[in-house]
Amino acid sequence: MKSKHGRIVNMSSGLGSLTRHTDTNSALTLRNMLLAYSASKAALNMITVQFANELKSAGIKVNSACPGYTATDMNQHRGMKTVEQGAATPVRLALLPDDGPTGGVFSDDGPEPW
Ligand SMILES: NC(=O)c1ccc[n+]([C@@H]2O[C@H](COP(=O)([O-])OP(=O)(O)OC[C@H]3O[C@@H](n4cnc5c(N)ncnc54)[C@H](OP(=O)(O)O)[C@@H]3O)[C@@H](O)[C@H]2O)c1
Repeated sequence: MKSKHGRIVNMSSGLGSLTRHTDTNSALTLRNMLLAYSASKAALNMITVQFANELKSAGIKVNSACPGYTATDMNQHRGMKTVEQGAATPVRLALLPDDGPTGGVFSDDGPEPW
């Protein structure tokens, strides 16, 4: 609250997208068994929206980041992206200019569907 350029980046995932889970052409429908993880990321996206609304007047931008499938401990390093590549979107959102977006979910490709 004391910063003039406060930024909050919530680490989400494409697996939190209701749109992708209901798109029968999406590869994500094959991963529906990740129930708790996907539901937690969808809930996190709602937290992003509500915090963004709450903190807008304070100039704080709150966004969700989807890093993409990144080789980390979480997936026994099977992800296709390096950690540096996976960090690109979260770092970009952490350094948003004052006219940048708030209350959205983003990947390297830009805005992601809810
Ligand atoms: N990797 C991917 O492909 C991918 C894709 C989409 C989204 N994400 C998201 O990106 C974020 C980072 O994941 P990652 O791939 O970097 O996973 P990771 O390598 O397993 O790292 C997870 C980190 O969370 C910390 N952590 C776990 N439980 C915690 C707790 N209860 N309290 C505090 N810290 C805790 C761990 O700390 P310790 O090391 O001390 O245990 C670790 O530093 C996660 O939110 C994940 O869902 C990852």
